[in-house]
Amino acid sequence: MKVAVIGTGYVGLVAGACFADSGNQVICVDQDAAKVEALRQGIIPIFEPGLDGLVKRGVAEGRLSFTTETPQAVATADVIFMAVGTPSLPNGQPNLQYLEAASREVGRGIRGYKVIVNKSTVPIGAHQKVAEWIQSQTSEPFDVVSNPEFLKEGSAIDDFLKPDRVVIGTTSDTAFERMSQLYTPFLRQGNPLIRMDPVSAEMTKYACNSFLATRISFMNELAALCDRVGGDIELVRKGMSTDVRIGKHFLYAGVGYGGSCFPKDIAALVTTGQSHGLKLGIIEAAQDANLRQRELFTAKVLGAFQGDVAGKTFAFWGLAFKPNTDDLREAPALSVMEMLEARGARVRLFDPVAMEHCRRQFPESPSRKYCRTSYEALEGADALLLITEWNEFRTPDWSKVKSLLSRPWIFDGRNIYDPAFMKQQGFRYQGIGRA
Ligand SMILES: NC(=O)c1ccc[n+]([C@@H]2O[C@H](COP(=O)([O-])OP(=O)(O)OC[C@H]3O[C@@H](n4cnc5c(N)ncnc54)[C@H](O)[C@@H]3O)[C@@H](O)[C@H]2O)c1
Repeated sequence: MKVAVIGTGYVGLVAGACFADSGNQVICVDQDAAKVEALRQGIIPIFEPGLDGLVKRGVAEGRLSFTTETPQAVATADVIFMAVGTPSLPNGQPNLQYLEAASREVGRGIRGYKVIVNKSTVPIGAHQKVAEWIQSQTSEPFDVVSNPEFLKEGSAIDDFLKPDRVVIGTTSDTAFERMSQLYTPFLRQGNPLIRMDPVSAEMTKYACNSFLATRISFMNELAALCDRVGGDIELVRKGMSTDVRIGKHFLYAGVGYGGSCFPKDIAALVTTGQSHGLKLGIIEAAQDANLRQRELFTAKVLGAFQGDVAGKTFAFWGLAFKPNTDDLREAPALSVMEMLEARGARVRLFDPVAMEHCRRQFPESPSRKYCRTSYEALEGADALLLITEWNEFRTPDWSKVKSLLSRPWIFDGRNIYDPAFMKQQGFRYQGIGRA
């Protein structure tokens, strides 16, 4: 099949590379000419394990190409995926300006019947708007399908190639048939292709992200209580997660969730509720608890220094919002860093892949140093703050860690270390909810 993908970010590039890998002819479009040029030269603009090889193979075998010209890519495609960003506006609603521009450009390129697929996460009912924007540019026939994406950055290729399910929101049998054909190679293990109406498909995406975020906030709230009353949230988690009704995923207390999806999608759902006169209290509470969690973690650090961190130095291990990605959107590390810096603290930063992105947003300064290794970040620091649980931080050389820090203090924002072992090694250790 001939596929066009509009927007070559985390979702679009992964989708394009995976569709090409299963034998389709794929053209990926991006308005960012520098990105397109880099991709043509085999330079992958984001860090995503396995993506580099997949893109290079697609290009080398002539199944994957890149352009800045949407109408040209659309003209020959059977299916067109929209994967442009839908970031939050200050009021929490998704900004649909990219989707609108892309829809109109797609409309200008349509020749003959097309299936146009909304893969961007969009507010409920946006499929209708996309259809209107396209229709304003063409009288050619098309169907708009809602096909939310559930991949996770860091394991995006695997998630895309072996999805738990594929949701197809459409009322058109022809469009559904085309989508089934495209996705069948990814569902060989029997995972379902679920057909529903477009509104339910749009809602499904928000429901999943809000539910997962709520689980995390629920655990963080209980962790705060553990900090007050004693008890270890990690033991509580084990006790809970063995209950098959609860399961083990997304029950980890920590410094809170971030990324380009959870915070934005939850804000979008809350504002959708509000615009229909409905308060989504559980989801709002999950959102508030998440923002509070960064403050609680920072307060722990401040508390250890009697509230005065001016001139103190903190080593940060991890900047990306989670391991195996360079994505810094809504990353808790950045909030913690800003809160400490606002009180006069110095920071020494290290992340295995997100350093360059971070440096562009937060340039190096006399009080903010980017370090070449995790150990260099520790040199002379008053405490280590573990914020992102990259594998390489799990079992460091503890005697080296101790010798490099000016005080053996560790604040573990992801509960990856064992408090008893830390104590044994001579560290003053504070995790989340491990009183
Ligand atoms: N990142 C994730 O893990 C993830 C997972 C599931 C769903 N989503 C959703 O998928 C969508 C895309 O997310 P992302 O993280 O890939 O975004 P991104 O910001 O990484 O990429 C978006 C790309 O679209 C391009 N673009 C914008 N307008 C364009 C236009 N008119 N024509 C061509 N290109 C255009 C941008 O230049 C950018 O490269 C969002 O709605 C997001 O919520 C993201």
